[in-house]
Formats: sequence, structure tokens, C-alpha cells
Amino acid sequence: MRIDKMLANMGYGSRKEVKDLLKSGVVQINDVIVKNGKEQVNPNKDTVTLQGEVIEYKEYIYLMMNKPQGVISATEDNHDETVIDLLELEDAVYSPFPVGRLDKDTEGLLLLTNDGQLAHQLLSPKKHVPKTYFAVIDQEVSEEDVMAFAAGVTLDDGYVTKPGKLKILKSGIRSDIELTITEGKFHQVKRMFEAVGKKVVYLQRISMGPIQLDESLELGEYRELTDDEMAALREATAK
Ligand code: URA
Repeated sequence: MRIDKMLANMGYGSRKEVKDLLKSGVVQINDVIVKNGKEQVNPNKDTVTLQGEVIEYKEYIYLMMNKPQGVISATEDNHDETVIDLLELEDAVYSPFPVGRLDKDTEGLLLLTNDGQLAHQLLSPKKHVPKTYFAVIDQEVSEEDVMAFAAGVTLDDGYVTKPGKLKILKSGIRSDIELTITEGKFHQVKRMFEAVGKKVVYLQRISMGPIQLDESLELGEYRELTDDEMAALREATAK
């Protein structure tokens, strides 16, 4: 692969910007300065450095974030901070985007990648990838609600949801629940509870397919998916 293509692919600028970068003499392949963008590099064998720092070539990046409240699941926004604003530059250069959306006030597991195909498969209604949420509800949640969700509830726009698996963790004047759904309609969890006359007062996603939120991540922190998590994701989306 050409060195200019590798650098451009990795987000180090446009072809023109990469050309200027090379010209300035800050790029080396195996300790030799390269100024010509046509120079060939084998990303798996050669060591490429930029200002002395080794550049690890990869085409795709896969991250899990513990999304905090107040941040938008989008790549840009005119008013609010986005999840992309929370990334380090070394990860942002890959131009990842969030896989689906969490509401501004929802916390928890958010996957980010620049692998459009995997993102598409994870979000495809045909794949039925389950998503599990922990929620606090403003009142008592009953076995009737469990049965209603299992049958599917009618949302405010007349849409009847696919069955959802509702687990009551604690029932009282405020209830803690877990809900697993296989769809991703707009505000789906909140609207499912509205359908049974209840309100979600706190919402957190705890899993998506085989990926569980890593509880060691503080709100706003993220990390790359492990090889095991990647293998599990690929298996879940291959079905
Ligand atoms: N359902 C919602 O209502 N909000 C979310 O952010 C995710 C699922």
C-alpha cells in the first residue's frame, strides 16, 4: 500500500494534507524518512512513525463507551457535546460513529465503530439483536406489565412492539427493572412504559447482543472491544 494512502485512510488528512506532512520529513518507514507519497509500505511488517511515534495501522476501530447523560449520540451537533467529542484524537482519526442512538438522558453501553457493515448488521431488524436496559420506573411495576410486554404493547403511534422481556428487580413506589427488546424504535423503552401508564425516570443500556457494559468504565470513558468480544459480535451478526 502507498504510504500516502495509508496515512489518509487513518485520518491524517486529505491527500493534499498528507502530501505536505510527508514533505515536512516527519514520517519514517523503518527509520528512514520518506517524503514521496508513492513509497510502498506493508502495514503488517514495516514500522511507520510520525514525529517519532509509531503508527499502528488498522482499518477499523471498535469501541465501547459508558455514555454519560447530557451527551448526544451523534457525530456532530450545533448545541450539545457529542459522544465523538469524548474520544481521544488517536481514536477520533478513524471517524467512528455511534451504532444506533441512546437518548441524551440515557446512560450506558454505546458501541462506536467506522465499520459500516457491522453497524448495519447490529441495527438490522432482521438480526433481532437483543438490547437490555436497566431502568427506574416512577411507580410499581406488576406481573401484568410483564405479561403485557411479553405480548407486545401498542405505542402512541399505533405501532405494536415485538415481545419484550421484562424482569422486575425491585417493585415499590419506584421500581427497578430490566427490559430486553429486539427492536430500536425511537424512545422505545420510555414509550413502552408510557403504553402501560408509567414513566421511566432513569435509563441505562447494559448490553447489546453479546456485549455487556464493562462496569469498570466510568461515565464518559471508553475502551476498544477485546478479541473475544469481537468474535462474539461477529457470531451474533452472522446468524
Ligand atoms: N429506549 C429509550 O427510550 N431511550 C433510549 O435511549 C434507548 C431505548
